[in-house]
Amino acid sequence: MKVALLVVFLISAVLAEYTSYDGYTVYSVTPKSQKDLIVLQEIYETEKFDFWSTMKALDRPTNIMASPELKELLVSTLEAHKLEYEVLIDNVETANAAERQRQARAPRVPQGRIDFQQYHRYDTILDYVRTLAEQNPDIVTREVYGTSYEGRELTLLRINSGSTAGKPTILIEGGIHAREWIAPAVTLYIIQELVENPNNRALVENANWILIPVTNPDGYEYSHTNQRMWRKTRRTGVICNGVDGNRNFDHEWGGPGTSTSECSEIFIGPYPFSEPECATLAEVALAEEHIDLYLAMHSYGQWLLYPWGYTYDPPDNVEELHQVGVQAADAIEAVYGTRYVTGNSAALLYFAAGASDDWFKAIAGAPLSYTVELPGGGNQGFDLPASRIQPVVTETWPGIVAFYNHVVSNY
Ligand code: ARG
Ligand code: ZN
Repeated sequence: MKVALLVVFLISAVLAEYTSYDGYTVYSVTPKSQKDLIVLQEIYETEKFDFWSTMKALDRPTNIMASPELKELLVSTLEAHKLEYEVLIDNVETANAAERQRQARAPRVPQGRIDFQQYHRYDTILDYVRTLAEQNPDIVTREVYGTSYEGRELTLLRINSGSTAGKPTILIEGGIHAREWIAPAVTLYIIQELVENPNNRALVENANWILIPVTNPDGYEYSHTNQRMWRKTRRTGVICNGVDGNRNFDHEWGGPGTSTSECSEIFIGPYPFSEPECATLAEVALAEEHIDLYLAMHSYGQWLLYPWGYTYDPPDNVEELHQVGVQAADAIEAVYGTRYVTGNSAALLYFAAGASDDWFKAIAGAPLSYTVELPGGGNQGFDLPASRIQPVVTETWPGIVAFYNHVVSNY
């Protein structure tokens, strides 16, 4: 009896190890009319599907992942309303398996280092930032600003030189959404450029930088070890686990484009700032005298989104937000021709209330606040191949410099 129980336990432990996306399909749907947009909105609101990228513009595709059980429902709904769609990824697991192989084959990096040829695990990232702080005490301070739900160190780096007074403050974080692996990679590249490239010394001297490489380390690790397409935090729920960190901020919490259903990918959580990953980030922000620029790194879609996510009403400085976004987009495009679209969150995307960018603008008082949706993997969604990390981080850097240039001459 005991042996049988043990066997059952071992089998379920092995099965629990990795969630397969075998038979999951991603559809790319291109709305051609206002009526099509309404149908898409209704599909979104059923919360039955995982919207990988949402775009509220005509002739721009929205990518939707459907489970094997719900595929037919999605397809029949699309066909009944005559929406144009195609299969983007036939079987998500095939793409995930290919990525797992690439990750397994990636060469080891020396202790305390990272590279941009592979996606690194949280431990490796912590080793790197620890080493960086030890080796550059004049400009780098490492700070554990909190503890994640599962007990991991929430870590930030302050990068500045000399007195911080009278200089603008820039806060950049990546990876509040677990599966968006390119976001921590870009944030780490920004850290590396600021600290390890002497040509960027002026940037360190003229601004206070706060960088958080992985905002949601529990989810990030879980997406490496158990479920590649995990998005949320890892809070234990009654039926389903996890809260959408980007719906958990205490500004218009629970407003449009959110869900109170635990199993939804856009679950708001039991109460505002229920997630330590979000609450402690907010504390870091509120402890600053002022934050002039906030960037939330996400993927994917190649958009520079500014508030608001909960209303179409434009923010007070919408012209500045737009103009600075366009400047950053142009700087990125100048590298390899990658085009970003700049615009208001609610107008370009569907509504999404309780997101970090809105909170930073409304409550932390950051005049400039953006969500940067980095590139996806072409046909492969979130699993941008590791061979694409280097070009993406390289092209994104001039965009960061463009943001910095505006901030340093205006704030
Ligand atoms: N893809 C992001 C999300 O769903 C976009 C957030 C944009 N910002 C906003 N306030 N809606 O969380
Ligand atoms: Zn995201």
